[in-house]
Amino acid sequence: MEDPNIESEAYQFIEHGILTVENGKVKSLTTFEAFQTSHPDATFEDYSGKLIMPGFVDTHIHYPQTEMIAAHGEELLEWLNTYTFPTEIKFKDKNHASEVADFFLKQLLKNGTTTALVFGTVHPQSVDAFFEKAKQFNLRMICGKVMMDRNAPDELLDTAKSSYEDSKKLIEKWHKKERLLYAVTPRFAITSSPEQLQEAGRLLKEFPDVYLHTHLSENKAEVEFTKALFPESNGYLDVYQQANLLQKRAVFAHAIHLEEDEWEQLKQHDCSLAFCPTSNLFLGSGLFNLQKAEELNIRVGVGTDVGAGTSFSILQTLNEAYKVTQLRKAYAKNPSDIKPLSALKSFYLATLGGAKALHLDHAIGNFETGKEADFIVIDWKATDLLKLRIENSFTLEEKLFALQILGDDRVIEETFIMGNPVKL
Ligand code: GUN
Ligand code: FE
Repeated sequence: MEDPNIESEAYQFIEHGILTVENGKVKSLTTFEAFQTSHPDATFEDYSGKLIMPGFVDTHIHYPQTEMIAAHGEELLEWLNTYTFPTEIKFKDKNHASEVADFFLKQLLKNGTTTALVFGTVHPQSVDAFFEKAKQFNLRMICGKVMMDRNAPDELLDTAKSSYEDSKKLIEKWHKKERLLYAVTPRFAITSSPEQLQEAGRLLKEFPDVYLHTHLSENKAEVEFTKALFPESNGYLDVYQQANLLQKRAVFAHAIHLEEDEWEQLKQHDCSLAFCPTSNLFLGSGLFNLQKAEELNIRVGVGTDVGAGTSFSILQTLNEAYKVTQLRKAYAKNPSDIKPLSALKSFYLATLGGAKALHLDHAIGNFETGKEADFIVIDWKATDLLKLRIENSFTLEEKLFALQILGDDRVIEETFIMGNPVKL
């Protein structure tokens, strides 16, 4: 593409390309003409007119909340108490957890998401159920048992000690088994005692390559409650910092109401942020400052945050992400300083950007030789309206933008895991 407005670093587009896969890994990506010259007799699957791209990466989602998506009418703390906690109590039952994990993973795959960073519940068996299913599909997934020892119903509470022991057992059982990885997962500052957060820090020290996954500064009432619970801390992020949770593989969801020094601290520790636009709009939490994260070169991925998020579709998440950047402009002191999110940047965030936020760009995120062949076939003419819009678009960027605004699971024609099409 020769459009001068395109951020050329962020993408590679081959109009008539061919992708070859060997033993589940990308072998080559080249033009069809070049491939035919060197392999005149080779047979291949023909996806002419379709778009093949790397599988989407969802950097923040809760599998136990699948069944309570679209629960009406509250801000974060009321929503948690009214809908979320009663739903999560059911995951004490491993059979229930397995059924929901199966449904959840199929939803991800139908929507073209091949890797996700996932919350379980407080119950260790919820994580066993999740990883067992993810293993059956041979997926690259990250999950963890929620650590929470206060400010929730008794049935959902562990203790600092038991959360350490249960998490440790799960790490030993699952971390780096096949394509699976573990995330130490304190829910958020409000539901952990200082002692429990210290135990989370101890786990990170003992297992230096596991992830830290939690929520940060999503909602104003949450920030205020956190400050009241931790009066000796110098703000929300400092609560995590005092437990040594800020590290390279730390992923913080939301990060909306941050102070200036908190942005700097996140940058200093090379932490990642999950931008969850459908959730942030649904719960009325606020507008993430993507441009600021970019200016500071902080790693960012997109997250659906189901069940506060309203769609499993990363395309629909990018649709809302665009609108968040538009709204930021409406409320900015200097609107001309705010750039709305571009289509190329959007698809970058959903693929390689997400992979970088999860430190998985050595394995997934694009079609470099040797990477794991998780990819999707998009039929961008799958709906009448999108077809009409694509046919009236001229540049690649225009077409991708239409796909991001109008597309959803209907356009995901096939999802491939390690080179094999998934049967759903
Ligand atoms: N903060 C703490 N727990 C949750 C949760 O389950 N969802 C969201 N969106 N925010 C949270
Ligand atoms: Fe969340």
